[in-house]
Amino acid sequence: MKVYEIPVAPKRIEDLRRAERGEPNPGPYDVLVRMRAAALNYRDHAILTGNYSYSLKRPTIPCSDGAGEVVSVGSAVTRFKPGDRVIPTFFQIWIDGTPPKSRSVLGAPLDGTLAEFVCLDEDGWVAVPPSLSFEEAATLPCAGTTAWNGLMRGNPVKPGDTVLCLGTGGVSMFALELACAAGARVIVTSSSDEKIERARKLGASDGVNYRSHPDWEKEVLRLTDGRGVDCVIENGGIGTLARSFQCVGWGGKVSLIGVLAGREGNANPHDLMFKSASIHGIGVGSRGSLEQLIQAIEVNRIKPVIDRVIPFDQAAEAFALQASGNFLGKIALKF
Ligand SMILES: NC(=O)c1ccc[n+]([C@@H]2O[C@H](COP(=O)([O-])OP(=O)(O)OC[C@H]3O[C@@H](n4cnc5c(N)ncnc54)[C@H](OP(=O)(O)O)[C@@H]3O)[C@@H](O)[C@H]2O)c1
Repeated sequence: MKVYEIPVAPKRIEDLRRAERGEPNPGPYDVLVRMRAAALNYRDHAILTGNYSYSLKRPTIPCSDGAGEVVSVGSAVTRFKPGDRVIPTFFQIWIDGTPPKSRSVLGAPLDGTLAEFVCLDEDGWVAVPPSLSFEEAATLPCAGTTAWNGLMRGNPVKPGDTVLCLGTGGVSMFALELACAAGARVIVTSSSDEKIERARKLGASDGVNYRSHPDWEKEVLRLTDGRGVDCVIENGGIGTLARSFQCVGWGGKVSLIGVLAGREGNANPHDLMFKSASIHGIGVGSRGSLEQLIQAIEVNRIKPVIDRVIPFDQAAEAFALQASGNFLGKIALKF
């Protein structure tokens, strides 16, 4: 079967290479899936360019996210049958409850979704709703589940709340759509006025350009009459955290998700104390969270925001687009 591989110690997008591997043989509990689509996450680019916290131990098939059709199942499989449309879970051994202590993540250390076929234990797949195409479904496992938990973990977002989404990438645009469906007001930040306009069309009430307003937290406070927001989808990380602490409101929460603004900063959690605000680390989520997300998507008829669908043969171009930042929402690959 045709796959893409990342070699050990990759440094640049050009290190992505095509390879041939034998077609996997499902064991008794396995489900073999013909992949139809995949979707890129910031993490996938970081792994390919050697900027990730985990070092590959062997050539590895990239990407955690994808969607496909069941080809065959092992003799003991009960959850799926041939023809079912499925997506993999980000963590292969986290069904629900407390996070697992080992990394069992597709795309590193496990082989990922940029392959003609993927074979995983039946517990590592989830059925996709009929309302979503393969490309749309492929965007759910990492970015979708993360946005869901960023909004719903701890104090869940409720009607009338205000949610601040940093940037207009995959996690942010999922959070925007889900927060609007939950009845919340959404403010986005972006480097681009054009992207802010696109986010408004998707339901954002306001946008703040963090390039023309480096003190964007002041704008967020102005837009909320000084009250601040109830939830921050903190994709910037340590580099933006101090500003998020300033503009989160009383009883609000900061969902710490990303590293887009670097790993250096001067955030001081003391700022949260008198506001009774909190900070939660988000590590994508369990299969249970992904299943809740799918329910919310189905009930609210939400369509994931896909900027571009790129053919499987042009995967390197998809990674280059990811690196350029010239996209809003998700980049998908069609097989
Ligand atoms: N903890 C977890 O479980 C988890 C899960 C998924 C992702 N993540 C992390 O969350 C972050 C977002 O992931 P993603 O896949 O959504 O990324 P992505 O789709 O690649 O998002 C890229 C966008 O982020 C925005 N951005 C870049 N630098 C920024 C900055 N300094 N401040 C605010 N926005 C900035 C840009 O939007 P504009 O041009 O509009 O500014 C850019 O287009 C990444 O750091 C990723 O590693 C963490």
